[in-house]
Amino acid sequence: MKIRYFGHSAFMLTNGAGLRVLIDPFLDDNPLSPVKSDEIDAEYIIATHAHADHLGDSLKIAKRCDATIIGVAELAWYVESKGCKAHAMQIGGAYSFPFGRVKLTPALHGSQTPEGQYAGLAAGVLLWVDGMCIYHAGDTGLFYDMKLIGEMNEVDCFIVPIGDNFTMGIEDALKAVEFVNPKKVLPMHYNTWPVIGADPEEFARKVNAMGRVCLTLKPGDELQI
Ligand code: NI
Ligand code: MN
Repeated sequence: MKIRYFGHSAFMLTNGAGLRVLIDPFLDDNPLSPVKSDEIDAEYIIATHAHADHLGDSLKIAKRCDATIIGVAELAWYVESKGCKAHAMQIGGAYSFPFGRVKLTPALHGSQTPEGQYAGLAAGVLLWVDGMCIYHAGDTGLFYDMKLIGEMNEVDCFIVPIGDNFTMGIEDALKAVEFVNPKKVLPMHYNTWPVIGADPEEFARKVNAMGRVCLTLKPGDELQI
């Protein structure tokens, strides 16, 4: 499986067997993304919450590609009201899709649609695809139940925000890595704007000092996992 980073919290999972899953596709207004939404072909889109920097171009891409948007129920109902296909879930629930299994996890954060409507709780996501377990934490502060997530799941790849201000910063993200106990760590949600400026190399050095692997992807980079 390949994972491609577009900057901020936007990732795409693909494999040789037709997998096309997007997470938080904030592309057109993302100052870091080298790719725009009309260049993307997705079958499923996972939106961790409805803030514009996460829901992003989900509606546009879903309509063009006939993709299904996966998210908490209130967010799913919102995208359905906009004419998109959706699959409603809630935090703590898992569902097996044709491409793999998805479980929504807690996130300490808010959520509201770009028009200001209530959009339910913000979430993170655990994904089991091609025998790998990926945990994309969404936008969140540090919370102690990450330890439970680490105890109950063998996380291969932990994608964690480090930009501070709206989410965890580096020090809290290091504690999250300790709790989740993953094989690999990818930082996200940093340097999109000055307010979330963070040094991914500093984070990587500190993760490495814990005896763990941290990979820092540049926007546009693709990683085989
Ligand atoms: Ni947010
Ligand atoms: Mn955000």
